[in-house]
Amino acid sequence: MIYLDSAASHPLLPEVKVALIDAFDNCYANSASGHLLGEVALKKVDEVREEFADIIGAYPSEIIFTSGATESNNIAFKSLLLNSSHPKEKNHIVISAIEHKCIFAICEYMKLQGFEISIVMPNGEGIIDPKSIKEAIRPSTALVSVMHVNNELGTINPITEIGQICFENKVLFHSDAAQSFGKTEIDVDDMNLDIMSFSGHKIGGPKGIGAVYIRDLRKRNVQPVIHGAGQEQGVRGGTVAAPLVLGFGEAINSFLQSYKNLAKRQIRNYLLEQLVQAGISFTVNGNEEALPHIVSLTLPKTNIGVLVRDNEDTFCLAQGSACSSREIEASHVLTALGLSREEAEHTFRISFTNQITTKEIDQLVNAIKKAAI
Ligand SMILES: Cc1ncc(COP(=O)(O)O)c(C=O)c1O
Repeated sequence: MIYLDSAASHPLLPEVKVALIDAFDNCYANSASGHLLGEVALKKVDEVREEFADIIGAYPSEIIFTSGATESNNIAFKSLLLNSSHPKEKNHIVISAIEHKCIFAICEYMKLQGFEISIVMPNGEGIIDPKSIKEAIRPSTALVSVMHVNNELGTINPITEIGQICFENKVLFHSDAAQSFGKTEIDVDDMNLDIMSFSGHKIGGPKGIGAVYIRDLRKRNVQPVIHGAGQEQGVRGGTVAAPLVLGFGEAINSFLQSYKNLAKRQIRNYLLEQLVQAGISFTVNGNEEALPHIVSLTLPKTNIGVLVRDNEDTFCLAQGSACSSREIEASHVLTALGLSREEAEHTFRISFTNQITTKEIDQLVNAIKKAAI
């Protein structure tokens, strides 16, 4: 199979597999246990916490390990806005129209809790303009949430500028970094971030592990999302998944180099050049500055049904929406960009790993050519 869906989930890196097996064999004790093996597990988990905090410019005490970005996003909204000390009059949230589906689901829940939600549209390239965020903020705004990198387009939002606006308006700022961490720089101070969400399996780590950064966590009244025995500073109950944390730690180390190599190879440009040479009509959604492993292509003269049916044993491709592509409905990201339903149905999100070869890209281009209308 030719895997073209790394933005949905990156294959486990070989180094991570080795680290996971070692951790399952040797780091099985409960990191809350007072005996020697428990202390070893705790020490190793905290080493990953320190390393991770260092990379994003945070303190280790501001990092909570979670099951992934969905849980981190839940914590971001619920833990800070639904606690007893949150002022009732601060009941407005601003999000962008191109967030991951889980943010919309969380907002539906927040509405039931009395919050009002404003949704800011992107420009035609899929970028959230800081000015539109400024206009959406009201005296009652408690939180702004804008993703760092969009999962369908690879576009990078101006997080630093949006963070500055939130800071000036004394509004909490959250960003979902599931798609950006390990692929582009993050500094929570420079970006004026209060909360950020991360996922392990987007960088070749195991599924079921992620993290959330919460600025000044110890000074805040944070409502647990999972009530438990005080693990992860009381925010996230349940025995810490030490082996998964160690696998995440290895992914953080190994992914960086593999991504740099992929970026250098300019595979995205190669694909676009081959499409031009083959005379295939296409448009790229997003902008030139998008991350180099993602490309969203609209192919108006390609029979998508034929392309998918004839190649289902060869390519793993995401049509329309990224993480929910089994659904029939058109992607909310593409419609937010102004694409019609028909154009959205003719759109693919292709996302590479560093294993991709130019020969495989040629195979894809040939398959698209064969499926011409
Ligand atoms: C932007 C974004 N946020 C959140 C998620 C969910 O992440 P996880 O699978 O770690 O819960 C994804 C991908 O699935 C994503 O692309």
